[in-house]
Amino acid sequence: MKKIAFIGMMGSGKSTIGKMLSDRIKLDFFCTDEFIEKKYNKSISDIFKENGEKYFRRVETEAIKELSEKRDIVLSTGGGVVLNKSNIDLLRENNFLIICLNRDIEKIIENISIENRPLIKNDINNLRKIYKERELLYKKYSDIIINNDDN
Ligand code: S3P
Repeated sequence: MKKIAFIGMMGSGKSTIGKMLSDRIKLDFFCTDEFIEKKYNKSISDIFKENGEKYFRRVETEAIKELSEKRDIVLSTGGGVVLNKSNIDLLRENNFLIICLNRDIEKIIENISIENRPLIKNDINNLRKIYKERELLYKKYSDIIINNDDN
């Protein structure tokens, strides 16, 4: 059984690289945000706007719970998944290899799309602050760290 999860900052490339890897090794690909948007038929932005971040975090944990039970998948998680240790516990208990994708924050700022990213939509500088708050968590909770800085 192969289960691989990507964690890391918004814009670090989790979905792009996760999809590439899943194609290459022929596993199904899932993204927690896409899963939530489909399930609730609402964009992440609208969930934040209408229900608040606290609600989104609850829904995110539910999504991790459901998705972590799947076999043979590559999973891309939202950047805030490390804020709730129980998300990481779920991934570990369900035997995921957890890969942290690390990308220089200035490179992220250069080409990230702020559409549908409510935490940075009003001020991209929030990204630096968020990175400082989470940097250690991404390192602590991953089995491997891969740098995605080459392009
Ligand atoms: C978030 C990251 C987003 C999304 C939500 C919150 C975060 O996912 O889950 O906007 O707290 O870092 P991506 O990392 O896929 O952008």
